[in-house]
Amino acid sequence: MRLNYIDNCDCLEGLREVPDNSVDLIVTDPPYFLSMGHAGSSTNARGGTSEQLNTNRCFNDLAICTPFYKQLFAEYKRVLKDDGSFYFFTDWRGYAYYFPLLNAELPVRNMLVWDKKSGPGSFYGFAHELIIFGTYKPKNKAGCGTNVWRMSGFNSGAKSTNGDKVHPTQKPWEVIAKAIEDSTEPGAVVLDTFMGSGTTAVACLRTGRNYIGFELDEKYHAIAEQRIAGAVDELLGV
Ligand SMILES: C[S@@+](CC[C@H](N)C(=O)[O-])C[C@H]1O[C@@H](n2cnc3c(N)ncnc32)[C@H](O)[C@@H]1O
Repeated sequence: MRLNYIDNCDCLEGLREVPDNSVDLIVTDPPYFLSMGHAGSSTNARGGTSEQLNTNRCFNDLAICTPFYKQLFAEYKRVLKDDGSFYFFTDWRGYAYYFPLLNAELPVRNMLVWDKKSGPGSFYGFAHELIIFGTYKPKNKAGCGTNVWRMSGFNSGAKSTNGDKVHPTQKPWEVIAKAIEDSTEPGAVVLDTFMGSGTTAVACLRTGRNYIGFELDEKYHAIAEQRIAGAVDELLGV
């Protein structure tokens, strides 16, 4: 089985090569396009536009995404081992959409709140993200602790250990490493179908796990490869 690679392709295409029952953990952060509805804005009764208030969205607008996610989650079920686990990042707009689709295929156990301590935005700052967590394991480290993770985001200190952001929705590697260490042992196989700048691969290298990943965007794929090379040099003390 091929390990420790990120292919520059659509994840549904890349997943075809991943054998059944071969992955210990899926940790992934899909594109947050769910916040987008139809283009254009309409004025509501109080004079706000749908863009400003971001409340005029309808899940029917996402009908085009549903076949993709149904196929993706069926693939997750196929590749995940019988004692595997998964962490699926989303935000307050996406949770209600993803939950029933994911829960139809895999054993969702909890919704984690990643408290980033501070965040940008008006109408209260966006200081948290959500993670849909599930596992087939009756017991693992993930059973300890609470479903709130208080870990710095890029606005509250993660720059000191991650450097400047190289992807707009980049996660601090420590947050991914927590998911990895809570749910797997060294040597495990971790899948990220939306690698972005390669944070999951970097976290795997630093925690002694193997990674498999896909990234559609050529530019971010190249950035991910650079970050992996940097992490390898660091581990080798180059
Ligand atoms: C939210 S970002 C992931 C960011 C990542 N967690 C990081 O720390 O850099 C999602 C990524 O998924 C990629 N993407 C979108 N659709 C994809 C697909 N069908 N297959 C593979 N990658 C895809 C996007 O190009 C984007 O870089």
